[in-house]
Amino acid sequence: MNALWYLMRGTGAVSLVLLTMTLALGVANHGRWAPRNTPRFVVDHLHRTASLLVVALLAVHITTAVLDRHVAIDLADAVIPFAGHYRPLWVGLGALSLDLLLALIVTSLLRARIGLRQWKAVHWLAYACWPVAVAHGLGNGTDVPHGGWMLWLTGACAVTVAAAVWARLTRAPRPAATSAPTAPVVPTTIHAPTGALR
Ligand code: HEM
Ligand code: HEM
Repeated sequence: MNALWYLMRGTGAVSLVLLTMTLALGVANHGRWAPRNTPRFVVDHLHRTASLLVVALLAVHITTAVLDRHVAIDLADAVIPFAGHYRPLWVGLGALSLDLLLALIVTSLLRARIGLRQWKAVHWLAYACWPVAVAHGLGNGTDVPHGGWMLWLTGACAVTVAAAVWARLTRAPRPAATSAPTAPVVPTTIHAPTGALR
């Protein structure tokens, strides 16, 4: 038991919660849903920010796993699925989930260049990225065989994703015209009050 190990577990747990939030916010973004009195661009920004935060947290999760001398994991094991010697299946699923996440983020940042169709095709991978990350957490989790807090946390994440997927499958997106404003309206023309300038 050491600080690195606790940090690895903590960042793993928070990464899973943030990944869950990212997926749920993505579904809300697609459906143009936002809480009452909340402009829709807030959901869009939260979705994007949460996804970038996952990457930051995972950087710590992976660094601690590599530095921890109790487990023989090197940097390549974090990106090349199933290639390592330490728990190849469970750590490999983590690497696979990381690769999918990076593909989602890189294509999203390059969306204007690659086009909407290709971006959308890659974005479907979000629905694979989440269960693969969950399988990694359950397979690697220290407490899981004893039914510890990690199991409850994973259960809460699973309920959130199930609700999001249910909403995605059963509710049509709001029409753009009637949805909440997407950004503050900035006047583009200044009207002279008297007409003296016309
Ligand atoms: C910089 C990163 C990202 C940006 C800019 C972004 C942007 C978007 C946008 C604009 C939508 C709405 C698409 C539509 O109107 O149909 C969306 C949907 C979605 N996003 Fe992301 N996204 C990012 C990363 C991620 C990540 C990492 C995940 C992984 C969980 C994710 C999961 C989803 C999901 C599940 C949807 C709903 C897709 C559907 O069912 O049609 N996104 N995203
Ligand atoms: C989307 C990507 C990932 C997520 C969401 C994630 C999340 C998690 C979670 C929730 C746990 C269980 C914590 C516990 O109960 O102890 C865990 C454990 C672990 N993860 Fe990840 N992980 C990801 C990627 C990776 C990668 C790429 C590596 C490779 C370096 C890795 C290495 C580990 C290790 C070694 C453990 C075991 C910790 C222990 O001994 O308890 N993870 N991860």
